[in-house]
Amino acid sequence: MEAAGEGDEAAAALEQRLAAGGQGHVLRFWAELGGAARRALVEELRDMDVAEINRFFRRAREDGGGSGAAVKLDGRMEPVPRDVLGSACRDRGLLPRWESRGLAEIAGSRVAALLLAGGQGTRLGVPYPKGMCDVGLPSRKTLFHLQAQRLRRLQQLAEEQHGTPCHIPWYIMTSGRTMESTKEFFLKHHYFGLKKENIIFFQQGMLPALGFDGKILLEEKGKIAMAPDGNGGLYRALGAHSIVDDMERRGVQSVHVYCVDNILVKVADPRFIGFCLEKEADCGAKVVEKTNPMEPVGVVCRVDGVYQVVEYSEISLATAQKRGPDGRLLFNAGNIANHYFTTAFLKDVVNTYEPRLQHHVAEKKIPHVDIATGQLILPEKPNGIKMEKFVFDIFQFSKKFVVYEVLREDEFSPLKNADSQNGKDNPTTARHALMSLHHCWVLNAGGHFVDENGTRIPAIPRLKDANDLPIQCEISPLISYGGEGLEKYVKDREFRAPLIIDEDGIHELVKNGM
Ligand code: UTP
Repeated sequence: MEAAGEGDEAAAALEQRLAAGGQGHVLRFWAELGGAARRALVEELRDMDVAEINRFFRRAREDGGGSGAAVKLDGRMEPVPRDVLGSACRDRGLLPRWESRGLAEIAGSRVAALLLAGGQGTRLGVPYPKGMCDVGLPSRKTLFHLQAQRLRRLQQLAEEQHGTPCHIPWYIMTSGRTMESTKEFFLKHHYFGLKKENIIFFQQGMLPALGFDGKILLEEKGKIAMAPDGNGGLYRALGAHSIVDDMERRGVQSVHVYCVDNILVKVADPRFIGFCLEKEADCGAKVVEKTNPMEPVGVVCRVDGVYQVVEYSEISLATAQKRGPDGRLLFNAGNIANHYFTTAFLKDVVNTYEPRLQHHVAEKKIPHVDIATGQLILPEKPNGIKMEKFVFDIFQFSKKFVVYEVLREDEFSPLKNADSQNGKDNPTTARHALMSLHHCWVLNAGGHFVDENGTRIPAIPRLKDANDLPIQCEISPLISYGGEGLEKYVKDREFRAPLIIDEDGIHELVKNGM
């Protein structure tokens, strides 16, 4: 690097710092860069703590990447005991109590929702944040839109029951890759009817992608290959942006943390909140039953007596196949990254525990510029690593941990892949999951569907039509949060799909080309 011209003094100091950390190669193409590109690169590198990155790399490598893929945990695992487990299915009688406790807490404005929306969504492959995805519902609502309306409805329910105005602050974690477009989208949609001051955006950190040798990779000659530091980057970001202080100022005591991509997510679910409060838990995980031993999902369990999520790669098939006396898989608490934390616990995590969290290493195919030749390489097999923390990494610090099991078809359908890729977790499956659920709500509220001849379609939940498609039915979250309050619209009435129920009433037979 030739140190001459404006800003080059700063660049020379930067060069020294990088070289001292063994990362001087990132300035290899400095001479070829124009002024703007140089300034952008200096800006990118200014706050980068190279020594820390090297330390993260060494620690993550020594720890086997934190995934422990090679070390099986079988002998040290115990399933979640029944006394810390609440079940939306098996404890049906307790649901009204939990719900009313949760709603009382919401009515007191002591509950916040926290959305993890900093991911890159590489598998889905859209050039905008995942929350902006419209999966083709009759209403064309996006994931952000659905979540915002669920919050509005919940506020309304809490207000109706308790007679006091309330709000649910909505913390939205984005990353360098998603912040601007997310904020613009909310502005453009007038915050979906929520109060702007109750939506708090904050940005998680980014880390450079590294080669297997620990060297920082370049995305372009003047640009580092940066990636968000995983959804567990949440805890560092909470500290960096004083978010827990903000929660305390607002009087928030319970926080529901969830992922942007689950179309069925019950944001700030009062039953889950109420259950966690009743158990006086500081940390809770909502799970769905894992029924297939081969399903690649992490399970919540205890390892050496401490709660954690064990990834499918960390157990043998024999353990994954073990069954309890009830015939269900022994390790069946499938993690869906949907959590409860008290604000006090988050404060402890930020102040005390976060630095102890290890990065997990994900080996990836990372496009990069070859330092020797300057050519862009698009690797066909993994050539480097991304370092990430996970949101569930803090379970180990909980003093009172609980697990809350819900039905997958009621609450979990993630959007991960493009329709073109495979048949799982894509826009079509997300759309169908939501419409099937809403079909059930109509049936449960005493409504019926008839076919084109006027013959009643048998009331079998999740019945598909002649083309093996779910009945098209969509109910606005402003009308119903979880199936409640639909009798006045549907009881003893017959409908032809598609059926939409929203703030403007009931719409049938809307042609939408689906
Ligand atoms: P995933 O692990 O599925 O990642 O995120 P992703 O970025 O959405 O998709 P791929 O893996 O690149 O295809 C699960 C949740 O965690 C959030 C995502 O936004 C999603 O809500 N997340 C992930 C973050 O908030 N930050 C991250 O660094 C990574």
